[in-house]
Amino acid sequence: MDPVKLFYYFRGLTNTYKRFFKLQLGPVKVIIIHNPEDIEAVINGTKYNSKGYVYNFIKPWLKEGLVLSKGIKWHTRRKMITPAFHFNVLNNFKLVIEKNARTLLNSLENEIKSPKTDISPLLHNFPLNTICETAMGITLDEESTHAPKHSVQEYKRSIHKLGQYAVYRAQRVWLYPDFVFNLTNIGRKQKKLLCILSSFRTQVVDKRREQKAERDRLIGAEGIGEEVDTFMFGGHDTTSIALTFIFLLLANHQKVQDKIVDELHNVLNSFDGDVTTAELLQMKYMECCIEESLRLYPPIPAITRNIDVRLKLSVQINLLSLWSFDLRDFKQATWQPYGYIPFSAGPRNCIGQKFAMMEMKLAVTAVLRRFRLLPVTSPRDINITTDYVLLSKQPIYVQFQGRYDI
Ligand code: HEM
Repeated sequence: MDPVKLFYYFRGLTNTYKRFFKLQLGPVKVIIIHNPEDIEAVINGTKYNSKGYVYNFIKPWLKEGLVLSKGIKWHTRRKMITPAFHFNVLNNFKLVIEKNARTLLNSLENEIKSPKTDISPLLHNFPLNTICETAMGITLDEESTHAPKHSVQEYKRSIHKLGQYAVYRAQRVWLYPDFVFNLTNIGRKQKKLLCILSSFRTQVVDKRREQKAERDRLIGAEGIGEEVDTFMFGGHDTTSIALTFIFLLLANHQKVQDKIVDELHNVLNSFDGDVTTAELLQMKYMECCIEESLRLYPPIPAITRNIDVRLKLSVQINLLSLWSFDLRDFKQATWQPYGYIPFSAGPRNCIGQKFAMMEMKLAVTAVLRRFRLLPVTSPRDINITTDYVLLSKQPIYVQFQGRYDI
């Protein structure tokens, strides 16, 4: 089925079967749930720690990094990596994020005379450069002497294609066995893309080994490779998708945009200068807007877990369908701890959520200080397509106008 039709087909099923429904995909049984209490029962705790069947299709790429590993391996890695996202460490990342936000502004500056800008491609480099520099210690600027030689654009294209192939495969049960899939045209293409990723990964690992980071010594070259791919996957697409939808909504809600700018005037010591961590924490209204956007457009629309006790089935948890598009429901949903979970919840929640929030706040601050966003695409024009991440079939356009240009 066409991926857009498939997405809306699932939305229809979710609306019809309010609590859960069951799918049989060849040998795989899947229960789809979207009720906060049921979700809590599955993801609160480590009993159902292993990820569901659809993740198998991204395993050739992410291997046993933090997103896909389970049991002791996951637990040890999670413990080892968690301190890297401690509040004090995040503080050090702020300078890197601000530097990359300035680069983002420079690229947007070129758009000021344009009647419409396709924002998604422009918003990709910012989180990608940021995650590489903070989590990997590698600068991706083309001019940088440390930049991996393999084209960054090629790397990004490969990641997207791999996601599409995984969705293609998930819909075709006869392609589930590896030996069948590997013989197909898509299987062969996937192999080529994995080579591009592998070459990029090797370059990053080599650079890191030159730096002899303590954590790297503990997890070894293979472990670093797994986490390079995992953090590149987890840390860039999600944030760029989140920012795309935030900017779409802000362009379509001028009063909200003005209120955020008022808040910036109140909170910031210097409207044009660097932002302190204390100031970021005071941007409460902006944070609510970001959260509202994550509610309407969660960058990861669904997650899955294996239930391998007695029943042997996969549970898919619809983050997107937790709430209807009605604000009254959102208020109710937030009363329940598992009613609003764009970063998932429980022990396998998103390790990078505070990092992502800081990144999004700094990006929104930088962009709104310089530009007024005007609507071109309306949320009503968008069709979502089935993927591991939430993607719009059509480009999302916004117009950038200098905020203080006469
Ligand atoms: C708006 C941005 C983001 C959103 C909405 C988001 C969402 C999520 C969700 C829903 C999960 C759970 C996935 C699952 O259970 O299968 C997750 C896990 C994860 N995220 Fe994020 N994420 C974001 C940003 C980031 C960033 C910036 C990083 C890295 C710096 C990151 C790294 C990870 C990792 C490593 C995991 C796996 C954690 C584990 O299993 O222990 N994410 N994220």
